[in-house]
Amino acid sequence: MYREALDWLTCPHDPATSLVLEPGAQEQLDGALVAGQVRCPACSARYPIVDGVLDLLGPLGLPTSLAQAVNVFPPAAWAYERTWRPRALSTLTGEPFGYERELPLITGLAAPERGGLIVDVACSNGLYARALERARHNAPGHVIAVDLAMPMLRQARSYARAEQLRISFVRARAQALPFAPGAATALAMGGSLNEIGDSAGALRELRRVLAPSGRVVMMHLVRDESASGRALQSFLSLGGVALPALAQVNHAFASAGLRLRAQWRYRVVVFSLLTARG
Ligand SMILES: C[S@@+](CC[C@H](N)C(=O)[O-])C[C@H]1O[C@@H](n2cnc3c(N)ncnc32)[C@H](O)[C@@H]1O
Repeated sequence: MYREALDWLTCPHDPATSLVLEPGAQEQLDGALVAGQVRCPACSARYPIVDGVLDLLGPLGLPTSLAQAVNVFPPAAWAYERTWRPRALSTLTGEPFGYERELPLITGLAAPERGGLIVDVACSNGLYARALERARHNAPGHVIAVDLAMPMLRQARSYARAEQLRISFVRARAQALPFAPGAATALAMGGSLNEIGDSAGALRELRRVLAPSGRVVMMHLVRDESASGRALQSFLSLGGVALPALAQVNHAFASAGLRLRAQWRYRVVVFSLLTARG
């Protein structure tokens, strides 16, 4: 993580209180904090920076489903962007859908060039975080990427550093984001709503941290109505992957106080642009 992340990071137990860096942290030449601790001045909780990643969950941040458990398995984190991820959308949509098509869609909708706090929620290897940081150009602000799984975050940090992208990585739950209400100008979530556990809680949390003029950009999967699709999806649901009908997801967005502004569907893959309602 970088020092500038502290302009936005708040205690996961008390989102009104900013976290502060404890003396003695180890800092690299580019300002990356690689070891040390941050503290909440209100509740005195201390959180370690481990291998450059701020860990707000500690040993109790355990996965709650098979789908989540796979991501804490280091070979899965190593393999994710080296194997499945580049082919994922082409496989799921049945048409050519590489990064060259997906990433401009995400950055075009999120508009990171507006600056401010930009968050990749449940980032895995940080694909969206890197695209958002590249597209931020030099606008004042910072990209923070959050995930439950430490191996995913370590790999994400390594990819970002290889490209010299200044992104902070934080281990936290999507249902308890470490940011003040209304702090984020853009929130991106790629494919994670389906395996995040309490999706209604995560959507409420996105709404809580979204700035009044902010945007949520989401790539998510919905139910396939074909017989073969339904069979596969029933199998996936055993591992904790939820594949709701599109109408159900849109209802969940509205219930969380998010307003659907635009939506594109390619077979089971959906891109949604949301803003704060009311
Ligand atoms: C489908 S992957 C994300 C893919 C990534 N956004 C991309 O576009 O390449 C799902 C990720 O969600 C994370 N995750 C699952 N439940 C979570 C939760 N409750 N809070 C934060 N991250 C979670 C997993 O560790 C995993 O890395």
